[in-house]
Amino acid sequence: MWKVMVVGCNGIVRKWLDAFKEHDDVAVVTLVDVMRERCEKINEDYGYGAAVYEDMDEAFAQSAANLVLDGTPPSVHRDVVVKALQSGRNVIGEKPMSDSLEAAKEMIAAAEESGKSYFVMQNRRYLDGIQTLRQQLNKTYLGRHYLVCCDMFIGAHFMGAADGRGDFRNSMEHPVLIDMLVHTFDEARFIVGDAKATSAYCQEMNPPNSWYKGDAIALCTFEFDDGSVLSLRGSWATKCENTTAHGAWRVYCTDGTVCWDGAERVWVSKAQTLPSGGYFEEEGVREEIPLNYPGRKEHAGCVDDMLKALRSGGTMMTECHNNFHSLAMVYACIESSKTGRKVYLQEIL
Ligand SMILES: NC(=O)c1ccc[n+]([C@@H]2O[C@H](COP(=O)([O-])OP(=O)(O)OC[C@H]3O[C@@H](n4cnc5c(N)ncnc54)[C@H](O)[C@@H]3O)[C@@H](O)[C@H]2O)c1
Repeated sequence: MWKVMVVGCNGIVRKWLDAFKEHDDVAVVTLVDVMRERCEKINEDYGYGAAVYEDMDEAFAQSAANLVLDGTPPSVHRDVVVKALQSGRNVIGEKPMSDSLEAAKEMIAAAEESGKSYFVMQNRRYLDGIQTLRQQLNKTYLGRHYLVCCDMFIGAHFMGAADGRGDFRNSMEHPVLIDMLVHTFDEARFIVGDAKATSAYCQEMNPPNSWYKGDAIALCTFEFDDGSVLSLRGSWATKCENTTAHGAWRVYCTDGTVCWDGAERVWVSKAQTLPSGGYFEEEGVREEIPLNYPGRKEHAGCVDDMLKALRSGGTMMTECHNNFHSLAMVYACIESSKTGRKVYLQEIL
């Protein structure tokens, strides 16, 4: 039986709790939040009758939980994850692993020392669009991918607590890089078969209409260790002409291109077999690809994979060692943006 302690009982954890409903071997036994009423609301809404704590140390000392769900803001993740692992519990937690690379390294070391698992929520690998796109690349008929392009332009407003306390993202220094683009970088890594970035160049900006204190736009270029390049533009403060939050993707390959609109459409353009006789290369043969992914989507899909791995004592694709490489892309961008130069990942790892 997985007896779960939830730390951080507000926004996103409800998606996890909804996903748990499909799993008979999961029971939420402990709820922790500095705002006690949030735990009580979850007890009421989900009918748990779980023990409630405001202080995580007290909860770690007293709870019978063997699995910790971390739904706190990024700056708290290190504390929750390290304490959970050191007290002999497995951890499943929200992205990003942390708000610093040093903290993430400490969390991985704690997982290794404890022999317990730490799995990270990167729900966007569990979308039928990205899974369908990846399948087309796996079939190899488009040749070798060499350039991945992504635009993610949305206007995202985070409201904060009803008591007037602002949301943590509004005052972060690099909100879109740390709290959003870690998703998009991880999506890109999934597309290129979990290749690792070797270099990053990034320019950040905050548009005049921005409601964020920190930079809400990042323009990024990465090189991967499989020789491919990612060109990505991401914004959290866009007015109009938005993409979906999952981004609009084009993957250029040696024999064609595969695209995903970040929603319901995946299509490929297969290059003409005869070389173009004219000045411009001719368009390829375009084909719409039906979405094809049997698993549950987003959080539910990732939760299913995490529980499957925990039950078997195995691992899953967003385990902390893998996920660290997506987080490292965030910090390479921050370093590049601060220094105005291309940063090699080996400098910061
Ligand atoms: N995967 C996704 O699609 C997705 C979407 C939204 C948020 N997130 C991530 O989920 C995490 C939480 O985001 P959110 O929007 O739910 O935040 P939130 O602010 O709504 O909830 C976080 C909760 O943690 C509590 N908390 C803060 N410090 C604590 C501490 N020391 N001890 C106990 N509780 C504490 C807060 O009181 C709050 O109730 C972040 O890492 C965020 O990036 C992921």
